[in-house]
Amino acid sequence: MSIIDHLAKNNLVTERLRLRPFQASDFAALATYATDPDVMHYMEEGVLDEQGVRAFLQKNAGDGATAYALLLRDKDDLVGHMVFHPWFAPQTYEIGWVIAPPHQRQGYATEAARELLRFSFEDLHAHRVIATCQPENTASYRVMEKIGMRREGHFRKCIHRGGDLWWDEYFYAILAEEWDQASLLGDHS
Ligand SMILES: CC(C)(COP(=O)(O)OP(=O)(O)OC[C@H]1O[C@@H](n2cnc3c(N)ncnc32)[C@H](O)[C@@H]1OP(=O)(O)O)[C@@H](O)C(=O)NCCC(=O)NCCS
Repeated sequence: MSIIDHLAKNNLVTERLRLRPFQASDFAALATYATDPDVMHYMEEGVLDEQGVRAFLQKNAGDGATAYALLLRDKDDLVGHMVFHPWFAPQTYEIGWVIAPPHQRQGYATEAARELLRFSFEDLHAHRVIATCQPENTASYRVMEKIGMRREGHFRKCIHRGGDLWWDEYFYAILAEEWDQASLLGDHS
């Protein structure tokens, strides 16, 4: 079963949020933040234009999905999206997050990321989950740390952003055994 089928079938929900595959009707809500340079600055795909938003939706509504819509559980409003896909190594997944500005700093990225870790380790039987961000992106690495990921590396000037500009990258990970240990200690809240 593909991840998108698995995710759609398992209806990933938290106290306040719901994750589901993207659909065409998400266009307007997605466009409000995916076209915002402040939001998309650190995202690999960069700032999207209208065509880019359509291409993003098309890609992520099908089996090749690498990002999933994050909604308020009660109202069904799109608050952002979670990146989630297999990484290069076996049984290893990468996670990431984007939350629209009106919904930031309310713990949504942390809450959704915890649920994706649970899904990875308990449903997909992952061995390891990884995440990366730039050292300047404090909000992003705080999410990683809050969900129990460890900083494994700081790569210097490894991402070429054109001309003489190179970005550093933090690399974080969590292993299944670390997730299990935290579960035993009741440490996932
Ligand atoms: C990164 C991002 C998803 C965090 O989403 P969020 O829902 O606001 O995060 P949370 O509310 O779960 O907060 C997690 C932690 O980050 C901190 N934080 C959130 N926004 C912050 C900011 N702008 N500056 C510093 N810390 C911030 C929170 O205070 C919290 O840490 P704390 O408990 O130690 O106080 C959001 O800022 C975003 O969408 N940024 C743009 C997209 C992006 O850069 N994605 C990551 C690419 S690697």
